[in-house]
Amino acid sequence: MSSHLGLAYHLTHRGNAQHTRYGWLRLTPAYSVHVVADLLKRYALTGDIVLDPFGGSGTTALACAERGISCISTDINPFLVWLARAKTRAYTPAEVKCFQQLANELIQHVDKVPPEVIWLPEIHQREKWWEPEVLSLLGALLYQIHRLHDTFAEPVIDLLKVAFCRLVISHSHASFNHQSMSFKKKCQPSLFSKIIDDLILTWQESINDIIRSMQTPIITLPAIHLHDARQLTTLIPKETVSFVITSPPYPNRMSYIRELRPYMYWLGFLQNGRDAGELDWQAIGGTWGVATSYVGRWSIPEDHGVPYPNFTDMIRRVAEHSDLLARYIAKYFVDMKQHITELYKVTKSNARIFYVVGNSKFYSVLVPTEQIIASLLQNMGFGEIEITLLRKRTSKKELYEYIVSARRS
Ligand SMILES: C[S@@+](CC[C@H](N)C(=O)[O-])C[C@H]1O[C@@H](n2cnc3c(N)ncnc32)[C@H](O)[C@@H]1O
Repeated sequence: MSSHLGLAYHLTHRGNAQHTRYGWLRLTPAYSVHVVADLLKRYALTGDIVLDPFGGSGTTALACAERGISCISTDINPFLVWLARAKTRAYTPAEVKCFQQLANELIQHVDKVPPEVIWLPEIHQREKWWEPEVLSLLGALLYQIHRLHDTFAEPVIDLLKVAFCRLVISHSHASFNHQSMSFKKKCQPSLFSKIIDDLILTWQESINDIIRSMQTPIITLPAIHLHDARQLTTLIPKETVSFVITSPPYPNRMSYIRELRPYMYWLGFLQNGRDAGELDWQAIGGTWGVATSYVGRWSIPEDHGVPYPNFTDMIRRVAEHSDLLARYIAKYFVDMKQHITELYKVTKSNARIFYVVGNSKFYSVLVPTEQIIASLLQNMGFGEIEITLLRKRTSKKELYEYIVSARRS
């Protein structure tokens, strides 16, 4: 195994914040644009078709779009597909101007919307997320955005929704100081006039920021699909893809639905907790709400086909502590095997493959994701397999992020 780079801030989603559209919304699952840019710079060839099967918020798609490289991106989460499309669109100057004008008009009327038309999302513990005044202002703003739907084009509405999402988080009690989202301690209640002034200021800053960050031209529009990475052949013709850069979920019980639920509830991608769990069950490594009970009922197939030599022993050792966790980890790799089987079929001869993955640890059992993914790739017929250390993750000792690379023969 070769070592690439040590512990480094710019190799996480935080490194994206200042970079054009990459920082539009702060999303923990996003990976670093610097890693993607570096791989493209080193290896991309004219005519490449890049695939990111776990495209998330569209980091790979945007990096390709800005460089004129064709890219297909898929994700199972409809909110992320919406966001990735919004981030990678080529907006016309007229659309940008219209967005700016509407944004200014909407915020001026935000405190004049009658309370009876305001809709609020059914997110669990809503009052823990937002102060009542903030909730009604956000509801009023969204009501006004929805009223524009029939009159204005989708790109303009999407930009308003991106700006709205920024307010949803900046005016919440969510804290991002940990690997996943938590709640800040509540401070003293503020006066309504102060809340509204703050909200207007943040809105205006966001609008300016979004417009400024759109300067980088989109040279090639990516194709972004709501699709399951375990069924790539139902979307992509065989032997199409020449370059894969992706970061699948890690087997660490982090739920993307959990992280993204404030946005997803406000924008109507989720209606209740049951939906959230059902959607997470569709995701590889999903473990939120009802997804956990489904994992508990899932059985490890005898012929699971994961070729890593210590796989069965690793699962057995985790099962000594938690049967549920053992099933969770096994299902993760069985799903990844299904994905890699499909990936092989849609890649061309000589295609380059790069997976950014993290290992995990449960009780005292280390789950060497990078080695297991490498074994799956090798078993599938990919060659030139290498594992490169990317960075040390800060949360726990022994937790690292790696790039697993391979080449289709
Ligand atoms: C680590 S994140 C990728 C983040 C992305 N690189 C970015 O910069 O935003 C993993 C992604 O895999 C998606 N995912 C999970 N299961 C999937 C599946 N079966 N098919 C497609 N996408 C899936 C999740 O929704 C999540 O967005």
